[in-house]
Amino acid sequence: MEAMDINSIHDMLYALRDPAGLPFYPWAFFGVGILTWAMHFFAVALVLGGIAVALWGLHRNTPYWQRLAYAMANVSKIAVSAAIVLGVAPLLAVQVYYDPMWYTSNVLSAYWVIGFILILIVAYSAHYVFYFRNKENPQRARAIWSIIVAGAGYVLAGFIMHSLSYQTLSPEQWLNWYAPGGHIDNSGTRLHDFNLWRFGYWLALSVPITGAYMMAYATYWSTRRDQDHAWLDFVYQLGARWALWGSVMAAALLVAYFASLPEKLSAYRSSIWALLWLAATLLPGVIALRARNRAFRCGYRPVLGATLGMLLVAIGREMVRYYAIIPYYDFMDYKVNLDWFTTGVFGFTFLVLGASTLGYLLTVAWKAGKTEGVYQASDTMHLWGRFNLVLIIFWTLGYFGLMAIRTF
Ligand code: HEM
Repeated sequence: MEAMDINSIHDMLYALRDPAGLPFYPWAFFGVGILTWAMHFFAVALVLGGIAVALWGLHRNTPYWQRLAYAMANVSKIAVSAAIVLGVAPLLAVQVYYDPMWYTSNVLSAYWVIGFILILIVAYSAHYVFYFRNKENPQRARAIWSIIVAGAGYVLAGFIMHSLSYQTLSPEQWLNWYAPGGHIDNSGTRLHDFNLWRFGYWLALSVPITGAYMMAYATYWSTRRDQDHAWLDFVYQLGARWALWGSVMAAALLVAYFASLPEKLSAYRSSIWALLWLAATLLPGVIALRARNRAFRCGYRPVLGATLGMLLVAIGREMVRYYAIIPYYDFMDYKVNLDWFTTGVFGFTFLVLGASTLGYLLTVAWKAGKTEGVYQASDTMHLWGRFNLVLIIFWTLGYFGLMAIRTF
């Protein structure tokens, strides 16, 4: 089948746009997409890295490793729920500013999109099997198969996400995928495109992020006198090694990915964005190298570096798509149909309700963990808690009330 020319691809993509336009300016969705995807991947990295530490620790089977294995299997379990919640946000954003690309990619591989959910359910259930069978931290781990199934399921789910995302980069190939050799294949059973360097990079990136997390974890507990400091030191030093070598490994895979970019992306390769992405990948490693000898005194710096690095990685990643698609399509010229109502509800939910309630929960968890014995909340914390309850009631009544008024 003949390849489509630039003009036909341009017309196809613009025809696939939502004629209703966007309720707010496209750059805002682009920004929210990048920011929330960075948060999504930070959680994903802890899911994958936590399982890797757990499997390695169970294999090593010394008391320190064993203890760390159970702790990180738990961190990973909690990170899955964060990854899922934080995955929805970039999903909502990308399907707004790149709706023709995202929906086409999903329809072309529809079975995998649905399969993704089932795979995640099986993997998460297996993760809980491991948790329940090992809740008492036994000397010999039970049901190791379950954590292996969970890890394999997450990797597969990540691969599906990668492929769906990667397919959005090549609108010039869609017709060939939809009708190979001129024969329509609308089964949706195939993943048509992927790049193992890029996917390997995502897996590798979970190593430095988990390393930086372990350094912060050890630092956090180090202020408690009732904790085993030799064990925390072990976790800290291990975290530093993971952050350092992990970022080198991820950077090498990133360079290989850049080298594998097709001709149409050669301008990206020599752009500032590629450099930014590479530097961001190395950032947690560089900070960990400096923090390694200073023990717990600057143990939070690597995780802050990893957070900043993740945001820059997300920018570099999104700019690949920008370069790939700009010959045919510019999201910035999307029609805007300003809707202050929905934008206001979103802003309030995200910035006021979300920030206040999540901030409260995280502060309580932080303070409780820092307390030896039973944690007693201060008056200010009680006040904040009550304020959040009022906020949630106000939001629920306001949301449904306003929706009802707008519907009739
Ligand atoms: C443990 C499960 C998951 C893993 C391992 C995972 C992994 C990944 C990876 C590796 C990417 C980057 C792909 C690339 O750029 O090549 C990605 C992107 C993404 N993921 Fe996840 N993910 C998981 C769960 C989810 C869930 C549950 C959602 C949504 C509800 C989600 C939504 C997204 C979105 C929207 C993108 C970006 C798509 C784009 O910009 O084209 N992910 N994920």
